Amino acid sequence: MEIIRDARQMQQWADSARIAGEKIACVPTMGYLHEGHLSLMREGRRRASKLAVSIFVNPAQFGPNEDLNSYPRDFERDCALMETVPVDVVFAPTPAVMYPPGFQTWIEVTEITQGLCGARRPGHFRGVATVVAKLFNIMKPHLAIFGEKDYQQLRTIERMVRDLNFDVEILGMPTVRERDGLAMSSRNAYLSPEWRTSALAISQALKAAAGRLAQGATHARELREAAQATLHEANGLNVQYLEVVDALTLKPVDRIEAPVLVAIAAFAGSTRLIDNCVLTPPVRHQRPPRA
Ligand code: PAF
Repeated sequence: MEIIRDARQMQQWADSARIAGEKIACVPTMGYLHEGHLSLMREGRRRASKLAVSIFVNPAQFGPNEDLNSYPRDFERDCALMETVPVDVVFAPTPAVMYPPGFQTWIEVTEITQGLCGARRPGHFRGVATVVAKLFNIMKPHLAIFGEKDYQQLRTIERMVRDLNFDVEILGMPTVRERDGLAMSSRNAYLSPEWRTSALAISQALKAAAGRLAQGATHARELREAAQATLHEANGLNVQYLEVVDALTLKPVDRIEAPVLVAIAAFAGSTRLIDNCVLTPPVRHQRPPRA
């Protein structure tokens, strides 16, 4: 497994692979890898002949009061995990490589970033879109794979790729969960056993919303109430948002007539966790008109 820290060198690696007729899949990450990341990498391995992974804790997507400095990092452990996939090349630049002095070009995806995490983390998706665009230009993948746990991020990147004509296919993959339902996240490493137990209420709340839809709910309010009741029972969770939005536009909905995203962000202590599920309304059979 090759480790490259320089952007030009990474571009040369990608150029050579392309000239040799290889298909490059890329999995952008911020490291501290877990099974969720590895599932994306295995999918990349299946779908392409070369697998490139980036490890870069992107300062541009963290707010001033967020966890940039304490974000968990363990490059050696990450490398050992990537060897098991196996990964062909790791691009692990420093912040100075990605944002050299004089850097002043940013990408804003204006609409789909308005609500949910975008509303609570000003500048976050600007940082994500910009770094992902840079990674695409540096790693030159044919295919890039992202997890659906960061659903708004995935939709933002898809929008950017369409709007700016990036020649890269975007693939979203289902959230990988612990056996008890907690969505895998590098930030789970921050959780004490007590907060880990409280955090379980997030995935349980999503299940409650899904159950309510299956029982015949027709309005977003009913799903929110079902999820809220479960979150309410959890010890000390501080819910930042619980929203039901259209799964494509991410705009709030009232009646559920098309797939919706139920999305939750909550603080377990000082750890911010997010999770979501997409729910599709059942086809309701209309009574045939009376003869
Ligand atoms: O999902 C992440 O880990 C990051 O937001 C990403 C896509 C690697 C950009 O820094």
